[in-house]
Amino acid sequence: MSAAAEALRSASVATAAPLLRLAGVGKTYRRGVAALGGVDLDIAAGGFVTLLGPSGCGKSTLLRIIAGLTEPSAGERRWAGGAAAPRRGEIGFVFQEPTLMPWATVEGNIYLPLRLAGLSRAEAAPRITEAIAAVGLEGFARAYPRELSGGMRMRVSIARALVTRPRLLLLDEPFAALDEITRLKLNEDLLRLWESEGWTVVFVTHSVFESVFLSQRIVVMTPRPGRVAAELSIDLPYPRETALRMTAEYGAWCRTVSERLAAAMAPHASGTAAG
Ligand SMILES: Nc1ncnc2c1ncn2[C@@H]1O[C@H](COP(=O)(O)OP(=O)(O)OP(=O)(O)O)[C@@H](O)[C@H]1O
Ligand SMILES: [Mg+2]
Repeated sequence: MSAAAEALRSASVATAAPLLRLAGVGKTYRRGVAALGGVDLDIAAGGFVTLLGPSGCGKSTLLRIIAGLTEPSAGERRWAGGAAAPRRGEIGFVFQEPTLMPWATVEGNIYLPLRLAGLSRAEAAPRITEAIAAVGLEGFARAYPRELSGGMRMRVSIARALVTRPRLLLLDEPFAALDEITRLKLNEDLLRLWESEGWTVVFVTHSVFESVFLSQRIVVMTPRPGRVAAELSIDLPYPRETALRMTAEYGAWCRTVSERLAAAMAPHASGTAAG
């Protein structure tokens, strides 16, 4: 695809109504570590955007800033309609580690955010059942985390994030620790849920292949302090399924994205080239 066509696609995605706008967002930690160096980013409502970048470039920091778990030290985070911050339950966060409570069952773990929101177990029950079904864990409601495989624990973690029916779902390398086969399966399951539930998704990964398979839009970040090096709109049609991974179009996108990532890693890459 020509650079001009790519730029046009990026522009058309950028004009979709933003749910969230980051303007010049920077983060310097105590002791002076500059994690983010001025990130401008629009998150479109209903979109699937992936942050792709090398280890330590500030992806988790950016995700935590989006979630309101960390405050930026420069710039601002604006929600659509001028709202200061989303209400409780409007954001689901899936951490890299499943972080389940070992003493609670699958349904007990998934109940947690609803309990925090003040729902009784009886009120929560239908939603817990629905979330368990959504991630394909029927029959395991009473199991404990130690009785599950790594992939199943990650499914519980995703169910716990989506049981509140969030508008915005943030996933921080959720599949990085899993074997390739489980990872590919969960990629497809996640896309199906995204298409049926209408979430806005921000996904973090190191994997070019995963980013191309999942995303409408890929934000390539520079090494620390992280900035946006390039934005690409991936025009492969949805639903995306296993067969897509074998196509020339998918391969071509993976190559393009790899090149952008390599360019972003180059010592003199400046942080502003648009896709
Ligand atoms: N709470 C913290 N206090 C101090 N420094 C931090 C903190 N969290 C992150 N950092 C630093 O900020 C930089 C960016 O970290 P961050 O975790 O955001 O990177 P990342 O892109 O998510 O990396 P990875 O891909 O390895 O998960 C790193 O240099 C890290 O040491
Ligand atoms: Mg991280």
